[in-house]
Amino acid sequence: MTTDIPVIAIDGLASSGKTAISRLLSKQLRFYFLDSGVLYRAFAFIAKEKSIDLLNHEIIYEITNNMKLLPSNDLKFNVSYNNIDITKNLYSEDIGSFASDISKHEKVRAALLPIQQKCARQPGLIANGRDMGTKVFINAQLKLYFIADLDIRAQRRLDQLSKSGSKLDIKEIKESLAMRDKKDQDRDISPLKAADDAVIIDSTYLNIESVLDKILELYKISRV
Ligand code: DC
Repeated sequence: MTTDIPVIAIDGLASSGKTAISRLLSKQLRFYFLDSGVLYRAFAFIAKEKSIDLLNHEIIYEITNNMKLLPSNDLKFNVSYNNIDITKNLYSEDIGSFASDISKHEKVRAALLPIQQKCARQPGLIANGRDMGTKVFINAQLKLYFIADLDIRAQRRLDQLSKSGSKLDIKEIKESLAMRDKKDQDRDISPLKAADDAVIIDSTYLNIESVLDKILELYKISRV
């Protein structure tokens, strides 16, 4: 992995605000933005479409080999499968939960690792997910770990999902988020946890502008 490309690694709990802040950071710094969850979501979506319930080496190879991350004009990466952009199909809570199940497979993680690392490009990358600072970009210039109160996260997720017509209520969302965090934290391979050198950001009571300012300041300091 090239180390002279600045990477800001942002990991954390589901719906802890890391994606919203990553978008703002990407805009502000003109860095690319990798939302690594889309890869796990894409894998889950494809496996579901194909009704695959048992993963083996050939299936993992077929799916990951035909999956591509393509940079878009707004510095994000869209995900395609067999050259069809599937990004818009990935954001339901259902797919998120299935992605969490899929993500415990060592071979899936290994196959997705180089796809993520190839996203590091000049002038820099904001990489968010669960293992950006602990596995994918261990030399990242700045590592952050986002947490927030479960009630607040569930409300944020509800607001987000209701825009796309989801009928889930707050209780179901809370349960789903709590279960997903537990699965992500308890898995053997690359579990969700803060890197030793990560700065913890509790976004429960912070507004997004103050979080952004704080991170820009941390980034400035990390470059000195
Ligand atoms: O960030 P997200 O909610 O889109 O991620 C969906 C699931 O994908 C998450 O619950 C666990 C998995 N994931 C992962 O294991 N490692 C990552 N770097 C990103 C996501």
